[in-house]
Amino acid sequence: MIRVAINGYGTIGKRVADAVSLQDDMKVIGVTKTKPDFEAKIAKKKFDLYVAKNESLELFERAGIEVSGTVEDLIKKADIVIDCSPDKVGAENKKIYEKAGARAIFQGGEKREVAEVSFNAIANYNDAIGKRFVRVVSCNTTALTRVIYHLKKNFKIGRIRATILRRVSDPKEDKKGLTNAIMPDPINLPSHHAKDVKSVLPDIDIVTTAFKLPTTLMHVHSLMIELKEKVTKEDVVSALEREPRIMLLSVEDGFTSTAKIIEYARELRMRYDLYENVLWLESIAIDGSDLFLTQAVHQEAIVVPENIDAIRAIFGIPKEMSIEKTNKTLRIGYI
Ligand SMILES: NC(=O)c1ccc[n+]([C@@H]2O[C@H](COP(=O)([O-])OP(=O)(O)OC[C@H]3O[C@@H](n4cnc5c(N)ncnc54)[C@H](OP(=O)(O)O)[C@@H]3O)[C@@H](O)[C@H]2O)c1
Repeated sequence: MIRVAINGYGTIGKRVADAVSLQDDMKVIGVTKTKPDFEAKIAKKKFDLYVAKNESLELFERAGIEVSGTVEDLIKKADIVIDCSPDKVGAENKKIYEKAGARAIFQGGEKREVAEVSFNAIANYNDAIGKRFVRVVSCNTTALTRVIYHLKKNFKIGRIRATILRRVSDPKEDKKGLTNAIMPDPINLPSHHAKDVKSVLPDIDIVTTAFKLPTTLMHVHSLMIELKEKVTKEDVVSALEREPRIMLLSVEDGFTSTAKIIEYARELRMRYDLYENVLWLESIAIDGSDLFLTQAVHQEAIVVPENIDAIRAIFGIPKEMSIEKTNKTLRIGYI
């Protein structure tokens, strides 16, 4: 049984903790928070709660929330730490993991250099086998990598151009955001996503542009992929529908926007989590040698199965065995 510590119990941390709890070969031995807020109280109902920073001990004591110790105490009992702290904080936390001799998985908000390998389960699982520090790439990169990996595996492809329409923040955020504007992010070419995809699929020719939009539900990607052989729409559909982590939905069934996809997910899953790339069937089109497709990405959930597989990769469990188990427990491909 792999003993897993979750350092940071926010959007990603709470989901990874619940997903770990569904596995029969690993268990959550504790989670951390810095603030004694409602999320800390909920965390304590399910898991042993620790403080991520020593300064927080006093805050928790004043709030009357008993904790089991500090993150250092938690790490001593763990086989691996999943760092789900805010962007760039993971790099700071790495010092604690190094000192304790711990293994750790970081998230996409960290720079690539934080880990020995940037990870996507389908594309480069074996690169993470036996590694000590692994970084699960961001939600956008996970979605791009999955679909590009499958297209590359099945067809001869050339250059890829992708436009990423980014949700401005997660639904829980209440800081000021974009309310009536669209922001190029960044204005200059390319956005960082292309480089990030190449950290997993190095021999891909990809350029990405990105924009932030005043929505919180999902990101949307519009991709154009050069085909270097004769391929039909049916070939593409049949290649993608074999992959459980890609969900093909149709406008004909009423999936006219991300609003409808999320409404569907509310019926399907806890926290309306969609671990799959959601591709619109009608968007798959071929014009000459260019393949077009549009996909939606549930940013809060898509990296969750990747974190579970990254744990197993680090401990040398074979790729197919891990992915199958993760898919089964999270009900991926069971709709
Ligand atoms: N949200 C997404 O859409 C998304 C998607 C893919 C990847 N990611 C990546 O996942 C990571 C986490 O993002 P998130 O959205 O889950 O953030 P989040 O919701 O803000 O949660 C961050 C958590 O980290 C805790 N924390 C604060 N300081 C800490 C520290 N020094 N050490 C350990 N934990 C600390 C926070 O606790 P308190 O609240 O108690 O301070 C909170 O529980 C980031 O790298 C992000 O880029 C996010």
